[in-house]
Parts: sequence; C-alpha cells; structure tokens
Amino acid sequence: MERLEQLYEGKAKKVYATDNDEFVIVSYKDDATAFNGLKKGTIKGKGVINNQMSNRLMKMLEKAGIPTHFVEELDERNTVVRKVSIVPLEVIIRNISAGSFAKRFGVPEGIVFDEPTIEFSYKNDELGDPLMNAYHAIALRLATREEIETIKSMAFAINDNLKAFWAGCGVTLVDFKLEFGKTSDGRIVLADEISPDTCRLWDSATGEKLDKDRFRRDLGGVEDAYAEVMKRLNEHIEF
Ligand code: TMP
Repeated sequence: MERLEQLYEGKAKKVYATDNDEFVIVSYKDDATAFNGLKKGTIKGKGVINNQMSNRLMKMLEKAGIPTHFVEELDERNTVVRKVSIVPLEVIIRNISAGSFAKRFGVPEGIVFDEPTIEFSYKNDELGDPLMNAYHAIALRLATREEIETIKSMAFAINDNLKAFWAGCGVTLVDFKLEFGKTSDGRIVLADEISPDTCRLWDSATGEKLDKDRFRRDLGGVEDAYAEVMKRLNEHIEF
C-alpha cells in the first residue's frame, strides 16, 4: 500500500494517508517525550521496537477475540492500520502501584492489587491530560455509556491477556495506557500502540525497570531495556 501525504504528526508517530480511505499508515519515530512534552529526547531504535512489539501484541489480542486497528506491517517502522476516530480518553489499567498512582495516594511503588484498577484521562495536551471519570466523559460526549462499558470490558480482557503473556516472558505488567478508536461503522477497536512507551514492565526476578521510566527518570540503559523486552517477546510469542 502506498504512503501518501502526512495527515498528522504526534510525539512518537506520524500518520500518512493511503490510496484507500479506510486505512492509514503509522510511522514510528525514535523521539521520546515525557511530562507532557517538557522533557524531550531520542531513544535510538525505539521506533522499530515499538512498531514490531505493538503489532505482535495486537495480533495476539486479535487471536484472543479482541478487535484492534492493526492491518499489516509494511516494514520496520511503518504499519497499515484501520482509520478510526480516536476516543479522546487515555485508558489506564494498573495491577501494581507505580507512577502517578503512587504519587497521588502517597503510597510506595510495588503494592500488588487484589484486583486491577481502571482510570481515564481526557486526552488533551493543553490541559495536561486531566484525570476524569466515566460520568465526565459521558457529560462531555467523549463517548456514550455503552461505548465506555465496551472500552472497560475490552481493557480488562486485554490486561488478562497481556499480563499472562508477559509473565511467561519473566516480565511483570505493572500498568499500561490504551487508546480506543471508532471505525466508520461505529465499532470500538483497540488503537494507538502497546509498547515500553505505554506500559510499565518490570523484570519479574530482579524488579528492574524495562520501560520508558528509564527515560522519564534518567535511569540510563534505556535502549538496552527496550531491546531486552523485545528479545523476550520474540522468544515467547507463538507465530
Ligand atoms: P502514570 O503512572 O504516569 O499515570 O502512567 C500510567 C501508565 O500509562 C504507564 O504505564 C505509562 C503510561 N502513560 C502513557 O502511555 N502516556 C502518558 O502520557 C502517561 C502520563 C502515561
């Protein structure tokens, strides 16, 4: 499929039109940002890893019956995805306390929850992606009640799937952020990406952080961490 004009440039990806109105091409960059773009940098090779990891995990989720935007990987950085209108919610699932949860509630990182939590942020850079609940999202007509219910059950099903997969790789899935899109016929599908940019992944044996927190917190070894989780995924994924 041919890559036509650029439609959009985000912090980590560009989106291009194709000759088919139903599809766009996403192109993954090595650019990294944190704290709503205040911190900027480059993670060499990240675009390739995030593209391949996200595609492989979405294929795995599709097999488990979860609809995604994934269509076809074109090359190391470029993937054809279904064109969707993004529901402007960041959907965050947590299995273990970390990051903004630990900060907001004044608890240490690493508390294993009896049940996963879900939260929404309004996807709006100008406002700094404020936390919101389902009633706020419905009031602002960001999604209908039915769409929120669908998103919630999909997000928990994705968590069950990803948690089990990563556990098999010796990696603990601490938390992650998802985005959902609506197709032209009104179906909700998983969109955006699943990668070390959007998940907290800890080595199950040592607790070592193998995700973007190494960049956010200046821990060093960022590229090695991304390469390590990709290597483990490739060793364990079945296809
Ligand atoms: P948080 O603890 O900072 O709220 O992050 C929760 C999860 O969401 C974590 O896995 C990182 C991911 N995340 C994003 O993918 N994009 C973002 O802009 C933020 C703030 C977090």
